[in-house]
Amino acid sequence: MKDQAGKQSKDQSQNQFEVRLDGVHKSFQEGQAREHVLRGVSFDFPREKLTYILGSSGAGKSVLIKHILGLLRPDQGEVWVSGQNVNQLSRKELTQFRLRFGMLFQNSALFDDMTVFENVAFPLLEHTSMSHAEIQVSVHRTLSLLGMKDGYNKFPSELSGGMRKRVGLARAIIREPSILLYDEPTTGLDPVTRRTVDELIETLKRELRLTSIVISHDIPSALLLADHIAFLDRGRIIFSGTPEEFRVSENSVIRSFVDAERRFLNVFRSERSE
Ligand SMILES: Nc1ncnc2c1ncn2[C@@H]1O[C@H](COP(=O)(O)OP(=O)(O)OP(=O)(O)O)[C@@H](O)[C@H]1O
Ligand SMILES: [Mg+2]
Repeated sequence: MKDQAGKQSKDQSQNQFEVRLDGVHKSFQEGQAREHVLRGVSFDFPREKLTYILGSSGAGKSVLIKHILGLLRPDQGEVWVSGQNVNQLSRKELTQFRLRFGMLFQNSALFDDMTVFENVAFPLLEHTSMSHAEIQVSVHRTLSLLGMKDGYNKFPSELSGGMRKRVGLARAIIREPSILLYDEPTTGLDPVTRRTVDELIETLKRELRLTSIVISHDIPSALLLADHIAFLDRGRIIFSGTPEEFRVSENSVIRSFVDAERRFLNVFRSERSE
């Protein structure tokens, strides 16, 4: 009976979380040296919420995301996604498993020789047996949701940065994934396009019931949009809380990260107003 109760409470608590990392360690061998990149990361990503992972360059954010996708295996610890232990999936199961994710890459990763329509339709052609008419309806509905009502025959080279993000996002959500990963969605964009991307993330948060994970340096976006913020520093989660808790955190690493980002934004603004 005791075992039964224990199992149940674990299952119930896993129900609230789509993704769970439990004591994850990862190191890489670099010549003679061994770099310990993740140093015991334990974190629960709440279901149907938007979680930001903030952290400096080299903190281990991309390595963490790769563990969630099963692209890297932990040296120690476990990764659970929707109740499945990712480490225990076979290569074949992993291919199927990854279909539950949508991913927006930093450069949108569009196919340059395909039109907007073809880019967004691609996952449906690859992974479903939908008819051409059904695909047409789905592509139009998804692009419209993201504020793109025409230009479906254009090629990526003819699109603005904001439009490319719309198309990349449409392709990421077209198969209705349960988890959406954004890799640095606003890094390297001008301030106006940054805000466009924020609005897109906001729209999807409002319209779709997705578990969303954003890895980013963008503090204003995180404060505006996140349900939850985690801060990764040298392979450890040193903060986990609400945007308001993050804003008033007195942790010295977080303060210096916020100050550095603020200085960067101020320099950017003064350069533009000159
Ligand atoms: N496959 C790998 N082999 C060896 N070292 C790696 C590998 N992947 C990542 N690393 C190392 O792990 C550390 C963390 O890298 P990671 O890409 O996760 O940082 P990040 O937080 O995503 O940084 P950024 O904000 O610059 O993207 C880096 O020092 C990197 O060199
Ligand atoms: Mg990275």
